[in-house]
Amino acid sequence: MGSPGHAPGKHSRKQRVNNVMPLSGPLVDAFGRVHTNLRISVTDRCNIRCFYCMPEENVLFSPRNEILTFEEIARFVRVAADMGVNKLRITGGEPLVRAQLPELIKQLKSVNGIDDVALTTNAILLADHAQSLRDAGLDRLNISIDTLSPEVFHRITRRDGLQRVLDGIEAARCAGFTRTRLNAVAIRGVTESEIEPLGRFARRSNLELRFIEFMPLDADGQWQSEHVLPGEEIRRRLEHCFGALRPAPRPDPSQPAVDYAYADGGGAVGFINPVSEPFCSACNRLRITAEGQVRNCLFSTAEWDARSLLRGGGSDEQLARLTLKCVAAKKPAHGIDQPDFVRPERAMYQIGG
Ligand code: 5AD
Ligand code: SF4
Repeated sequence: MGSPGHAPGKHSRKQRVNNVMPLSGPLVDAFGRVHTNLRISVTDRCNIRCFYCMPEENVLFSPRNEILTFEEIARFVRVAADMGVNKLRITGGEPLVRAQLPELIKQLKSVNGIDDVALTTNAILLADHAQSLRDAGLDRLNISIDTLSPEVFHRITRRDGLQRVLDGIEAARCAGFTRTRLNAVAIRGVTESEIEPLGRFARRSNLELRFIEFMPLDADGQWQSEHVLPGEEIRRRLEHCFGALRPAPRPDPSQPAVDYAYADGGGAVGFINPVSEPFCSACNRLRITAEGQVRNCLFSTAEWDARSLLRGGGSDEQLARLTLKCVAAKKPAHGIDQPDFVRPERAMYQIGG
């Protein structure tokens, strides 16, 4: 883990990158995709144990001294912003288990060129932190909620806590967050029963709900294509319950979700279908793990070691070069549907969703 992306057979590409790529942005890959969106994992720890992400027991967490400090993250972000990154998303693990997170938000919001800082959270701790996150300047929240049933919640997360999540959603509203989204992972055989209640809850609460197909990033390696509950099937079920859905305009072509509006004016619902309808051709995302490894894809099997540069006296120029190399090596697509697909070594909690 954590080794730089020097896979065999990459040599000629590496040389090409060194010879012709400029030392600063924009972060354009070999397929013309411009990377303006950085997802930052601030911890691999979590307070629940979703089966599609973490093992139930004996989780191997990174030692704390291997996790980037706020100053190291902010420095990387300054370099990335100079190369055209303007949108950030804080992820984990569960980002709210990281102490003093609002302090990081403040630092990131003050970086020149950063327009938007969002956070993905399971909301277990959100009621305690919503106001300080808002005060720190956080722009938006995505809240993970796969079910409204305490039993199904326990089956998925192997913990209790649904009421805390619901309290967190309410606290976010009270703290002044708008455009909060609900993310629901959809799993065949587990969450079919949750579609209608979640749809009703989101419509009533005036929140956009997004269904995400289960991806092969579970630590237990149990994922099979039969476990995918395709977004299109969910869309049909929602139409059956709530009436027609109309495709919504796509203001941002790189957004992974396909959004729809309820014809009766009951708000919007979106579908992130990475398995049944991959959206890699418009991907503009780059990731850095909590340990400071830069990745060009959730499913990347290589990583570029920014932490060594950050801790070893590396220059901003070297960080920029590393980031460019990572982007230049991005594959055209994740290839989940290909026979030669290889799962990444890391699970979702170790990458950052
Ligand atoms: N497949 C799809 N979504 C996942 N998430 C975590 N693991 C998986 C997976 N294997 C989701 C979380 C959260 C976001 C960060 O990613 O539920 O909404
Ligand atoms: Fe924690 Fe998110 Fe992974 Fe669930 S999906 S175990 S909430 S990090």
